[in-house]
Amino acid sequence: MDILNALNWRYATKKMSGEPVSQELVDQIIEAAYLAPTSSGLQPFQIISISNKELREKIQPIAYGQSQIVDGSHVLVFASWDKYTAERIDFIYDHMNAERGLPSEATADYVQSLKDTYLNLPEEAQAAHTAKQAYIAFGVALTTAAVLKVDATPMEGFVNADLDKLLGLEEKGLKSAVILTLGHRATEGDWLQGMKKVRHPKEIFLTEIK
Ligand SMILES: Cc1cc2nc3c(=O)[nH]c(=O)nc-3n(C[C@H](O)[C@H](O)[C@H](O)COP(=O)(O)O)c2cc1C
Repeated sequence: MDILNALNWRYATKKMSGEPVSQELVDQIIEAAYLAPTSSGLQPFQIISISNKELREKIQPIAYGQSQIVDGSHVLVFASWDKYTAERIDFIYDHMNAERGLPSEATADYVQSLKDTYLNLPEEAQAAHTAKQAYIAFGVALTTAAVLKVDATPMEGFVNADLDKLLGLEEKGLKSAVILTLGHRATEGDWLQGMKKVRHPKEIFLTEIK
């Protein structure tokens, strides 16, 4: 399926059938998110992939009862760093240099400039920046799911603090940013299925400067 057909096929599925998504397809969706670009390559987030039914049943009330959490087969939680730290930045660049066979001096000035920038921001702004990076990968995952004909519901409709508590994210220096629920669409009972996809008029959305 070409990319635009895939993006027209996908919709924010409101009712999943209960048929599980194969782990092989889920792995490809996660791999796509893993390969997403991030600012300075810091990749300041993790994905928690939850197929465990009992845990998803605990997440459902935190997500205002949304049925896709349990009727889908996987919940991907995009959890971003609560803040930047010198250790986190060093870890990424030490790893990058080691993998590329470069000495740490190769990136020392750049790493210092990252620390000067991020560590001086208020913590709230740091968390907003890390969450933005998670959303890039989230978009890539959502698109990849569509290409693979896997249905997905992007979700911000949940109580972040409660999900963080349930998953013990605070102890890990993480905050839930957004959820992607994966499954296969039900053939009946979904009010959105088959409805026209509506976006802003193109002339509002796009300004072309030639
Ligand atoms: C970041 C984000 C959060 C969303 N949160 C929810 C949600 O909690 N529950 C839901 O049913 N849909 C949610 N949606 C779906 C949007 O309402 C939907 O993507 C939008 O109306 C466009 O429709 P389409 O995705 O079917 O093309 C969310 C979408 C995004 C991108």
